[in-house]
This record gives sequence, structure tokens and C-alpha cells, in this order.
Amino acid sequence: MRSIELAGTRVPVIGQGTWHMGEDTGRRRAEVAALREGVERGMWLIDTAEMYGEGAAEKVVGEAISGLRDSVFLVSKVYPHNASRRGVVDACERSLKRMNTDVIDLYLLHWRGQYPLAETVEGFERLREQGKIRRWGVSNFDVDDLEELANPACATNQVLYNAQTRGIEFDLLPWQQQHDLPLMAYSPIGQGGELLGHRVLQDIAQRHGATSAQVALAWLLREPGVIVIPKAVGSNHVRQNAEAAAVELTQEDLDLINSAFPPPGRKEPLAMI
Ligand SMILES: NC(=O)c1ccc[n+]([C@@H]2O[C@H](COP(=O)([O-])OP(=O)(O)OC[C@H]3O[C@@H](n4cnc5c(N)ncnc54)[C@H](OP(=O)(O)O)[C@@H]3O)[C@@H](O)[C@H]2O)c1
Repeated sequence: MRSIELAGTRVPVIGQGTWHMGEDTGRRRAEVAALREGVERGMWLIDTAEMYGEGAAEKVVGEAISGLRDSVFLVSKVYPHNASRRGVVDACERSLKRMNTDVIDLYLLHWRGQYPLAETVEGFERLREQGKIRRWGVSNFDVDDLEELANPACATNQVLYNAQTRGIEFDLLPWQQQHDLPLMAYSPIGQGGELLGHRVLQDIAQRHGATSAQVALAWLLREPGVIVIPKAVGSNHVRQNAEAAAVELTQEDLDLINSAFPPPGRKEPLAMI
């Protein structure tokens, strides 16, 4: 698995998402097994949030990393309504308890809310001093938000990015590349929806002996400084995603994707799910 530098450490370019995990107790065993298999296959960055299942996804993660904590780079997120100076500390402590761990490797502000950024950052810094988080970052920030934040300690910005949603290529992605701020691409395979059924992706996949999900991930990884975090429970899906970085797209493939999904020609509002 290829890795990239993120705030003083290295992380795999393909990690694992967890949205909707923990929502159905009947699927819990499969979710835990999928995350563990993913770690074994090199996707040892796990992304979660207090929001997912109102803590239920973090509990699944806690079970999945039991005995594996030191082999995993753990990312979680605080709700904006908990992101006051004091609230961020309390929320983090609840997350740590649910995941049965002492430390979160990367703690993100899920999106901007009512609290001034400086207040949230103070909370993050306090958590860092206490050893409860190793680093912090943001999510769903556009260029103006990052410029307002203007803090070199910010380790990443996690945003919606896939072949169908390319608005960030106009300004945010180049901004982050210029500032060496890794971009974490969420919903990288379009939530398993129509993107994967698109003829262009399927044709490219067939030529490479791959799947359209692997093409979608390999396409995102063409850009430097990008980490992808597909969520998968199906064992087949986990294996495919872990092997996606091996798919090498040609210029012809990239041209075909550009024709089907044109890059942005002007500034677009930041897309969010
Ligand atoms: N920061 C934010 O605001 C934000 C917002 C959205 C998401 N996220 C994070 O990003 C992660 C990924 O995004 P996402 O969950 O929205 O969508 P996604 O990863 O693009 O898609 C997940 C869906 O695709 C299916 N899938 C996975 N691998 C596949 C494969 N190889 N072939 C076919 N289908 C496949 C999954 O099915 P199975 O599960 O059945 O395998 C699931 O239904 C989230 O889980 C979350 O951690 C963050």
C-alpha cells in the first residue's frame, strides 16, 4: 500500500470509512470483520465520527481495533455543536470511551458551526497537550475557511470528492497541494451509486481487469496529496478497495473520464453530503 506524509507521520493512501456502521445490530459482526480485514490488507487508517449512528459507529470501530490499536491510524470527528472550547474536550472523551482507546490520531471538526474557529482550536490544542489526540484537522472547509483558519497545525481537510463531484479541482485541491495539506476524499466511490454503473468507468475497468470502484479510487489517487476513505462491509468490496492503488490509469482513460465528467471551469460552492 502506498503511503503519504500527514503532519509528521505516514498514512496509507487508502483508508476505510464507517458511516452507517453500527446502525443495525444484525450487521455488526460483518462490520467489525470488514474493518479488521481492511487493516490486514493495508487500509489501516479508519475514519469515523461521533455523528455516525450517534456513537454506534465508534463502538464498532472500538471492537474492530481491539488488539490492533497500535497498527491503526484512528480518525474521528466532533459535531460542530460540540465544538466549543470545553465541548470539544468533553466530546473527545466520550469518543475515546466508545472506542476503548486512550488517544485519537487525528480529530476533525466535522463542519463549521456556530463556534469561532479559534475556540475550537483552543479545545483541540488542550486535547493535544493532554495526550488525548495526536493531531487535529477540519472537514468540509472551502478555501476561504482554510484562509481564515490559517493554522499550520491543521493536518488535513476532509471533503467530498469523486469523479462526479469535481468542483474542488478549481481552487481547493490546488490550494491544499500548494500548502502541503493532505486532502481526504470522502464518498470516493459515490456511495456505491450510479457512478459505479457508468459506462465509461465500466469500460475502463474491463480493459484493466478491474472493477469500476477500483477505477474510481485509482482516478482520485492520480493527484498527489490525496487520501481516499471508501466504506465497505462486503468482503469482496474490502479486497477490491485495498487493491485499487495497483490500477494504473492511462492518459486515454483520464481523457475519457474528463469527457464523461468534465472538470470545473469556474468556482463552484463546496459540495457536501
Ligand atoms: N466528513 C464528512 O462530512 C463525511 C461525509 C460523508 C462520508 N464521510 C466519510 O467517508 C466515508 C466514505 O464515504 P461514504 O460512506 O459516504 O461512501 P463511499 O465510500 O463512496 O461508498 C460506500 C458504499 O459503496 C459500497 N462499496 C464499497 N466498496 C465497493 C466496491 N468495491 N464495489 C462496489 N460497491 C462498494 C459500500 O457497500 P458495502 O458497505 O455493502 O460494502 C457502500 O454502500 C464514510 O463512510 C465516512 O467515514 C465523511
